[in-house]
Amino acid sequence: MNLKNPKLLETRSFINGRFINANDNKTFSVTNPYDGKTIAEVADCGQSETLGAIKEAQEAYRSWKKLTGTERGQILRRWYDLQMENIDDLATILTCEQGKPLVESKGEIGYGASFVEWFAEEARRVYGDTIPGHQRDKRIIVIKQPIGVVAAITPWNFPNAMITRKVAPALAAGCCVIIKPAELTPLSANALAVLAKEAGFPPGVFNVINSSTPEVIGRELTSNSIVKKLSFTGSTEVGKILLKQSADTVKKVSLELGGNAPFIVFDDADLDKAVEGAVAAKYRNAGQTCVCANRFFVQDEVYDKFVQKFSKAVRAQKVGSGLSEEVTIGPMIEEKAILFVEELVANAVERGAEVITGGRRIGDVPSLFYQPTVLTNVNKNMMVFDQEIFGPVAPIFKFKDEDEVISLANDTPYGLAAYFYGKDHSRIWRVAEELEYGMIGINTGMISTTVAPFGGIKESGFGREGSKYGMDDYLEIKYMCWDIGNG
Ligand code: SIN
Repeated sequence: MNLKNPKLLETRSFINGRFINANDNKTFSVTNPYDGKTIAEVADCGQSETLGAIKEAQEAYRSWKKLTGTERGQILRRWYDLQMENIDDLATILTCEQGKPLVESKGEIGYGASFVEWFAEEARRVYGDTIPGHQRDKRIIVIKQPIGVVAAITPWNFPNAMITRKVAPALAAGCCVIIKPAELTPLSANALAVLAKEAGFPPGVFNVINSSTPEVIGRELTSNSIVKKLSFTGSTEVGKILLKQSADTVKKVSLELGGNAPFIVFDDADLDKAVEGAVAAKYRNAGQTCVCANRFFVQDEVYDKFVQKFSKAVRAQKVGSGLSEEVTIGPMIEEKAILFVEELVANAVERGAEVITGGRRIGDVPSLFYQPTVLTNVNKNMMVFDQEIFGPVAPIFKFKDEDEVISLANDTPYGLAAYFYGKDHSRIWRVAEELEYGMIGINTGMISTTVAPFGGIKESGFGREGSKYGMDDYLEIKYMCWDIGNG
């Protein structure tokens, strides 16, 4: 890997301000999904290192919470500056361990850093409240305080931004953090730790534990009563396990889980804009984001035209190594992921779907490249209707009217993101209000931004990240009722 700053390629975990090997010196391999080659051997920590990190974080919390918001914000701001100064290297590390095209990796580093910048500013705006007393001699004051030690368990699809989106508000609020990055992509997390150390976070405030046995680390983080809050991004299946495990210590939990996003095109939509939005919403990160469009619903009058324009745009995508400049779609993350996509497409085809373009793995196993795919003649009885695809496959359903499409779109336990295109203003309001999702893209396929609350409803989870709401998940509300004695 060619880096301007080679020390960013750190393989050890980061606890109490020091980079450490595993207690038993065990390591695990990190591979490049492009060619399957090992790019690093990373320290493989376990329960005892996790316990150590929790205790150090508890100790560090005693003084970190006492700093002013401005003081914490200054360190966060330095961390932000360092991320932007090292954007090229951070993007290279990300592409090498995750596979996404370099331009997307740079986008992710900028997006990730923007949460640090935002919460560096928000750190000094943790306002309380005064409430008119309920009796003449009573005064009521509300303050907000950091929740304490926070565990962040983060996914492989955004190895940088899902860390900063959780950790920046936690640190700004005065919490200390223990990050457990996905075992497929630990290097981006370690690079963030290198820069966190350089930015000047006191020892114990920011910790990263890498492990090839996530369930062991997860069990400690969820069952330990010192940890007061868990924030998790990942599958609904794992989220439910972590939620159950957190119950005994009654932890505050935020979950950003799976999605099954509808992408609706009404007959009055600007079709060219809809196609552009559809490609962005579907094929970003090879279809591996929780907010990727999963099911396309196109009104019957414009169906054929949309399919033709969309398929043309999909055929123009360039699949290959994320390090090549012209590439727009990289490899999938691992064999398991590509096998699942193959199963979904086979199931659809068996039940009558037509493959308009794509439909196959590129090359033979162990290649992790899958052709960007468009399926028509699809219906509700296929797995592509109710499973989160998490790959570059777009099934396009046909619908007749608004009632039908709302009911199809909401016919899922998930409720993360939804998208629709159309011009009729009354319908836009109606549809936006009827869709049971936490985030709605209206005439746009790109909704992720620091300044808006990211999160879902139903089995897509709860809690919000980013925006003015993002700090709330790391704060407790305390109210003081004061008897002034002479009312
Ligand atoms: C995710 O897939 O979990 C996050 C996607 C985003 O922030 O856009």
